[in-house]
Amino acid sequence: MCGIVGYQGNEEACNILIDALRRLEYRGYDSAGIAIWDNERPIRLARKQGKVNELQGAIREDDFRGRMGLAHTRWATHGVPSERNAHPHRAGDVVVVHNGIIENYLELKESLKKEGNSFQSDTDTEVIPHLVSSYIRKGNGFEEAVRLSLKRLKGSYALGIIREGENTLIAAKKESPLIVGVGDGEYMIASDAPAIINRTNRFIFLEDDDVVVVRDGTLKITDIDGTEVSRETKHVQWTGAMAEKGGYRHFMLKEIFEQPRALSDTLIGRIQEEQGEVLFEELSLPDMGKMKKIWMVACGTSYHACLIGKQIFEANLRIPVETDIASEFRYRDPILDENDLIILVSQSGETADTIAAMKEVKKKGVHTLAICNVLGSTLSRESHSVVYTHAGPEIGVASTKAFTTQIAVFFMLMLHLGKLTGALDTQDVRRHIGELKKLPHKIQTILDSHSEMEECARRNMHCKDFLYLGRGIHFPTVLEGALKLKEISYIHAEAYAAGEMKHGPIALIDENMPVVFVSPRDQTYKKTCSNMEEVITRRGKVLLFTDDNEHEMSGKVDTVFVFPETVYELQPVLDVVPLQLLAYYIANLLGTDVDQPRNLAKSVTVE
Ligand code: M6R
Repeated sequence: MCGIVGYQGNEEACNILIDALRRLEYRGYDSAGIAIWDNERPIRLARKQGKVNELQGAIREDDFRGRMGLAHTRWATHGVPSERNAHPHRAGDVVVVHNGIIENYLELKESLKKEGNSFQSDTDTEVIPHLVSSYIRKGNGFEEAVRLSLKRLKGSYALGIIREGENTLIAAKKESPLIVGVGDGEYMIASDAPAIINRTNRFIFLEDDDVVVVRDGTLKITDIDGTEVSRETKHVQWTGAMAEKGGYRHFMLKEIFEQPRALSDTLIGRIQEEQGEVLFEELSLPDMGKMKKIWMVACGTSYHACLIGKQIFEANLRIPVETDIASEFRYRDPILDENDLIILVSQSGETADTIAAMKEVKKKGVHTLAICNVLGSTLSRESHSVVYTHAGPEIGVASTKAFTTQIAVFFMLMLHLGKLTGALDTQDVRRHIGELKKLPHKIQTILDSHSEMEECARRNMHCKDFLYLGRGIHFPTVLEGALKLKEISYIHAEAYAAGEMKHGPIALIDENMPVVFVSPRDQTYKKTCSNMEEVITRRGKVLLFTDDNEHEMSGKVDTVFVFPETVYELQPVLDVVPLQLLAYYIANLLGTDVDQPRNLAKSVTVE
């Protein structure tokens, strides 16, 4: 799970690559490295443990002049984070950057050692430049040597490869994301589009076993045997500014504040209030009449959105929905019916477990529908159909706008299916669309009160543990709130269905434990009030999030945050926002690395 980037064009490559690398840092930041080549000088290579800043500090621009190069930011899998394990890796005159895992590297390493090669790192990647060099020594040209090497690799890879003395950049992809950016007089390769969106918005989304050869300013894409394949160049609507911080201290804060806009973009072109219709052009579905069950499968925040999706679907469509964590689903041989529908949810569309779950399902001939944010991502391409969330690039490791837009997509899908099956009539759909349309403005009012959350964060930032409680549709919201807090502030936070409190977690409560309650005035209200009483009786400190200005517990709790009302199934879109802000402000006050928290990466492309 690393980020790779490569450049060949008319400009100096070094700064372009470093800039792209910064945008890829969300994929890993254990080490970074760069290799640059021009006609006059040998390949220059620099690697540093730590972040891109460390690498940049170690480079003298004058030494790194050249119009072709590769760069890498690493999330360690094989070999500890260190300079010697940092990419690019070199053997002879061949230099490689790699994202993925070479599963048979030990076997390859043994055979390469027998040929007299010696290894400098503990990585799986280093076998690749050795293999290519070895094939070149045996008389093959660079391109052929790469193809022969690729055929020996088992596992996953997105690769950038250059060779001293040749104005040729070769890239290859198998089960790890890789795109080609088509610029003016230049080609770039990158793990994703935001990395290079400031240079071009024309992209080629590569497929598995594609091999890209950029030679002297021309591009050729072939299969692994060298037969040319045709790949469409697509225009992406994202702009460079969308992938910048735009004056915010962190991407996460920017992305929280972007939610009104992101949500509007999710709805645009799909909702028709007058007609009471929700349309998805890109959607193809199995026969709803025969459908016995819908599955919703994902990881992390996207899984929390599925838990909400289940409640939205079941309440309105009366079709049983099963939710599962992708890493569990794929190994438990679930009992699937060929008429079922499997919805796989992923912001990145590159999460290895979710992709593996999709592949399992496809083998069984069951229809897969992806809900993704990243255009052209693996999940979006390989599922039978896809609905995009259109949230724009999400760079902060902690997912925020992806979550709220995923819920909106679930809600719109429910309306679409409800109309198809007759579970909802035009009036129902019209009313629900009316509520959907009000959400961006309502989120904005929450954001306008952000200083309340900053204050609340200040009062609670030194607490060691937090408990998050909610019932019904608010249970997934509190799971999400707790996940946000722990991943960026490193504070221990647990979330429970509020009714479960008395079955164990109540033992944790004392005056040092803030207990976050999400308790709007709905069918869960009264019961949650009782749970608050139980906490207060045990001297626990309650932070209450509600849509009720006159909440009956207001006078007894430590903090009350009031957000706008909406229909029950859409409340998570609103009540999660103050929880995102609370987590953000606590982490910011504690001075953690909010956008790139320790041990985490944005796209988890390994199992
Ligand atoms: O890209 P995906 O939505 O598939 O990512 C799934 C999880 O890795 C992701 O939601 C993760 O839990 C985030 N760090 C949560 O903020």
